[in-house]
Amino acid sequence: MPRTGLRLKSPDLLVAESGADLEGHGLKRTLGPFQLVCFGVGAIVGTGIFVGLSDTVAEAGPAVLVSFVLAALTCVFTAFSFAELGSAMPVSGSSYSYAYAALGERAAFLVGWCLLLEYGVSVSAVAIGWGQYLNELLENTVGVRIPAALADAPGHGGVVNVPAVVVMLLAAVLLVRGVRESARATAAMAVIKVGILVLFCAIAFTAYDAGNLSPFAPEGLGGIGAGASLAFFSFIGFDAISTAGEEVRNPRRNVPLAILVTLGCVALLYCLVSVAAIGAMPWEQVGGKPAALSLIVDHATGSAFGSTVIALGAVVAIASVVLAVMYGQTRILLSMSRDGLVPRVFARVSPRTSTPVANTWIVAVVFAVPAAVVPLDVVLDMTVIGTLAIMAVVNVCVLSLRRSQPGLRRSFRVPFSPWSPLLGVALSLYLMSGLPLVTWVQFAVFLAVGALVYSRYGRPRSRLAASPEAQPPGGTLPDGTPAGGSPTSGEPSNGDPSAAPRPSVGA
Ligand code: ALA
Repeated sequence: MPRTGLRLKSPDLLVAESGADLEGHGLKRTLGPFQLVCFGVGAIVGTGIFVGLSDTVAEAGPAVLVSFVLAALTCVFTAFSFAELGSAMPVSGSSYSYAYAALGERAAFLVGWCLLLEYGVSVSAVAIGWGQYLNELLENTVGVRIPAALADAPGHGGVVNVPAVVVMLLAAVLLVRGVRESARATAAMAVIKVGILVLFCAIAFTAYDAGNLSPFAPEGLGGIGAGASLAFFSFIGFDAISTAGEEVRNPRRNVPLAILVTLGCVALLYCLVSVAAIGAMPWEQVGGKPAALSLIVDHATGSAFGSTVIALGAVVAIASVVLAVMYGQTRILLSMSRDGLVPRVFARVSPRTSTPVANTWIVAVVFAVPAAVVPLDVVLDMTVIGTLAIMAVVNVCVLSLRRSQPGLRRSFRVPFSPWSPLLGVALSLYLMSGLPLVTWVQFAVFLAVGALVYSRYGRPRSRLAASPEAQPPGGTLPDGTPAGGSPTSGEPSNGDPSAAPRPSVGA
């Protein structure tokens, strides 16, 4: 029973809602553990390692390895928390839903608001990274580069980043047509990405020179911390596995398993890539360079062939992340819209394509703006701070639910609780502290706007508050109709056609 002040949504209600959505709309439990790991790798490996690595090197020097280990540790503790919550509530809302159950509607709204950074702004960042490798590929294959004015943000030698906008609009076209990576395409994409990074390591290690690692930490602990905050971007996406909870066979076992296996594999791969990269070339020559992995392969082989292969792989791999992350953003907004917290247009589903067409175009157009005119480091920092804040909250959710719902069925339990979630919070805050002051100010303004939107728009329109569970009999929905429809019914209780069918998100 929700406490009216906090507006908690019970875990049972969350799971019941997801069950209602399963009816007749193509959500099938088809994904097994292998596909789920591929889905995770598909969502994680992208701009962060292919592009962001060079910025991390610029901060930390050869100690970039330590930065990656720190970022991975932060993710591991938080992954335990995602695994516990995902096993207890296998629903697609992920952190937004967990916060709704543990901390109430306001916290859930703010988590959803921060998810605009983790997904929406992240799409912009990933798209910008894609443009760098596209340019590298064009130069290596047809000998032309897109002019700087049309390939970068103002202040970074450009006027507008056209490739980043193009890849986002293309992703939107595919998503509104209902073209989503199938399970098979996702698996193929994951194999390509891992294959490209393994190939990179194999080539870069041929040029390994231990002298390049000395001095190991030229920028000191501060540089390592700042590097870890950046390295964290390359791990973002492991929580996307928990959003597939409604489409997984035996989710209470497979979701936690896949989260931990994926994170372990990706962390190992990233550590190898970073050692290979700094061993192959002096760090000053890698730091801050665009398309750095291609640059290193060029240096190691002395020919453009290897770097062309890496660039081609990066263009394909990063494009798939744009698709996956944009897809995630549209579905989070759809969930929030069904809860009444954001406008109904986000839940409107086209009967022709069974996709949220308006939602997808709004997301694509709104987040194409930062992709076009904001430099990569700025969108990257905003994504990182928003995601770290969510991670801290998810760890708090574990602690809170252990107290408020001790009997909740959890097939995975965080080991060493409360220490593991507490370490997750502490490390998240530590990585946040490595971000520039200006990012904190931007984040504070972003949160303040979110709080305002919630109090003025979301709170008065909340469907949970309007449901009989949260309101005395005889209450009314925000549009004046009597409360009575359960938000779990899958039918629009207030005649809102947009609130009904959910598009197929089957793999
Ligand atoms: N982790 C994702 C990437 O690196 C966001 O592109």
